[in-house]
Amino acid sequence: MSDPGYRAPAAQLTEAQAKRELARLAREIAKHDELYYAKDAPVISDAAYDALRHRNAAVEARFPHLVRPDSPSLRVGAEPAEGFAKVTHAVPMLSLDNAFEESDIEKFFARVRRFLKLAPDAAIDIVGEPKIDGLSISLRYEVGRFLVGATRGDGITGENVTANLKTIADVPKTLTHAPEAFEVRGEVYMRRDEFLKLNAAREIRGEPPFANPRNAAAGSLRQLDPKITAERKLHFFAYAWGESGAPPAKTHWDFLSHLEHRGFKVNPLAKLCHSPDEAIAFYREIGETRASLPYDIDGVVYKVNRIDWQDRLGMVSRAPRWAIAHKFPAEQAKTRLNDIVIQVGRTGTLTPVAVLEPVTVGGVVVARATLHNEDEIARKDVRIGDTVIVQRAGDVIPQIVGVVREKRPRGAKEYKFPTICPVCESLAVRQIDPETGKPEAARRCTGGLICPAQAVERLKHFVSRSAFDIKGLGEANIQLFFDKGLIRQPAEIFKLEARAQDVTRVVAEWHKQQSAARQTAKGRPKTAGTKRKKDEDYKSVSKLFAAINSRRRIQMHRLIFALGIRHVGEVTAKNLAKKYADMTAFLEDVKVASGERPGPDFIELSAIRQIGPVRVNDILTFFKSNTKLNEQYRDCKIGETLKKLKDKSKLKSITGPARDALEKHYKRWDTFCDAIFQAIEQQPGTTYSEISELQGVGVVALESIIDFFEEQRNIEAVQSLLNEIEVYNEMTETPSGPFSGMTIVFTGRLEKLTRDEAKALAERLGGRIAKSISKKTNLVIAGPGAGSKLEEARKLGVKVIDEAVWLKTVEGR
Ligand code: IVH
Repeated sequence: MSDPGYRAPAAQLTEAQAKRELARLAREIAKHDELYYAKDAPVISDAAYDALRHRNAAVEARFPHLVRPDSPSLRVGAEPAEGFAKVTHAVPMLSLDNAFEESDIEKFFARVRRFLKLAPDAAIDIVGEPKIDGLSISLRYEVGRFLVGATRGDGITGENVTANLKTIADVPKTLTHAPEAFEVRGEVYMRRDEFLKLNAAREIRGEPPFANPRNAAAGSLRQLDPKITAERKLHFFAYAWGESGAPPAKTHWDFLSHLEHRGFKVNPLAKLCHSPDEAIAFYREIGETRASLPYDIDGVVYKVNRIDWQDRLGMVSRAPRWAIAHKFPAEQAKTRLNDIVIQVGRTGTLTPVAVLEPVTVGGVVVARATLHNEDEIARKDVRIGDTVIVQRAGDVIPQIVGVVREKRPRGAKEYKFPTICPVCESLAVRQIDPETGKPEAARRCTGGLICPAQAVERLKHFVSRSAFDIKGLGEANIQLFFDKGLIRQPAEIFKLEARAQDVTRVVAEWHKQQSAARQTAKGRPKTAGTKRKKDEDYKSVSKLFAAINSRRRIQMHRLIFALGIRHVGEVTAKNLAKKYADMTAFLEDVKVASGERPGPDFIELSAIRQIGPVRVNDILTFFKSNTKLNEQYRDCKIGETLKKLKDKSKLKSITGPARDALEKHYKRWDTFCDAIFQAIEQQPGTTYSEISELQGVGVVALESIIDFFEEQRNIEAVQSLLNEIEVYNEMTETPSGPFSGMTIVFTGRLEKLTRDEAKALAERLGGRIAKSISKKTNLVIAGPGAGSKLEEARKLGVKVIDEAVWLKTVEGR
């Protein structure tokens, strides 16, 4: 207050005074925000608070170049204009591998040991932590101030929910002695008592209750109005870090206490265990206290304590090798099965759904559960009227695990699964699974896009988050627009704006119906309270068009995924986009491949899980030049025979698991030989092979892609969609890194790193690892004891280096 400029009208302030004044206002407003949102204890009136914000705005208007990065005008104090901005995480947010069985946990520790080359009895310290059933969040601090908070999203980008996180008391707003940039990660959760209170209040207001505390926490954090978030009383446990100058500690255990010193809440049940056995004992202990905890947990997380080990272990496909989630078994309850209804999915699968007498399972009311497929119904002999056991495990849809036979009502009839689609009346069939040679578990409607259920589900998938991500066009809207004939196929989404009047009418009608239904439910006359203004409908429809238009430019892999082709998930779509620069090139090759399809015996062999393209090729080449194998080994066992042949140094790639898989699949030697000789005749053409051999694609996905594009209706739908949108592709770039595009072979002993470690490192830097030397090999890393491979490499003139040189090249990467 010693500043003479203080309180002077904005117009009279000097630049220096304005600067000080803005700093003061930023501090002051932040303090009141915290008192209001986080502590729920404001000390000034709303009017006084508004006056501070006005003053800030007035000074900023006069000196726009003085607007501070932490200015209250940039912070979303009240309502962000529209949705949440995206935040790209400085370091990706990982997820965890799950395990339910102790044997899987043992495998996990064995893998850690193998990777680090530790002796089987070497000590490993492990931190056990409860696995909080909430949502993971990253908090970014810069120069000690909480700057941005984001949801995990897809792990790469999340949503900016900073304003809402600021309302959580457990989230420190400032840190002392923090590095320049420091990201703390952890779980936002809602306590059970708060969840029950919230749902009771929602029920009174006629709002749908949340299914569980996690959904309630997520719903509360994704509120556009932080005041609502503040009312919801969320909490936060910290357990990891993202970007940070140097590693914040040497061990995870020390890191947790470091977090506590910084003012974060760390789960008090976390425990430092000195062996895998101790960790598993911790799991049991936590399992016993689980029910009495004030918040939901769904397992425990084990983390290798030493951070230098964590670094060496690294990660595989978005999950660290140094941590694993040990989940609790599912919760169960008994109830009556009132009916079985059939749901038709995106790819035509007929899924039987149990309609249940509502029952609480693990704190959640369950009224529907999946019965999986017709074999499951038959196997469990589930009949309408039965008392059934319902199980719920974490995220999974509730399922029926069995029947209480003693309670079966007399005369209950077996359930007859429909062979005709209940929606479009097309035939529903069970195709032959190429891997097993048996009918698939699922019965599928053959109607394709003719079937309204499939068409609607495909559209829902098309607009979903990982596909076109069209905000405001959720499942309910798609159903509504489909029913009203406004959207029948994806292209029509982009033509919606041309029918703005129809859309507004449909939306207005829907709102009218909804509000009338709400009024009736409350026992009020239908006419009251239905005055939703016309311009509100108009506004929401314009917003929808804006959301649609913002998605007219789309990444190719998202488009491929959005088409909803069976067996084509995000990973397959991305791998295809890596190969093809644009849709035209992709579609052309699919067409060529469709004329080069292999026969059923070839597909059957390729679809066996342990048999990739290299092994298929090895088997076929070997049999081609050994045409008498059938007679030579008549009545022998497949596995043993292949082993014998392998020991004669033929069929090198057919290792134990592959032999077992072939034995299990073909059972008899003569059947196997017949199939292989058939497969030789049925090999696909080059384009087909090229696509099916792409990493993450395979014969099964390619067959399904070809089936999809052989259907004229699908081709037409994609063509009309391509007329509406612009497709770009950022995936075709070659991976960057010092070894990008290089084929690398390791041979001999390594002394500093384990083989697995060295390979993981080479792959991370863009290299491809091969087992044998060929003309394609670019680099060989040879250690002591290297033999024939080294000779071969020298013969071919391939560059050879030793481990020390290799380590120098990769230093610091
Ligand atoms: S560690 C690399 N620790 O579980 C670090 N995660 O299923 C990855 N979670 O996305 C996370 N409690 O949302 C970790 N104590 C805990 C956790 C925990 C809950 C969640 C987290 C993560 C998910 C993976």
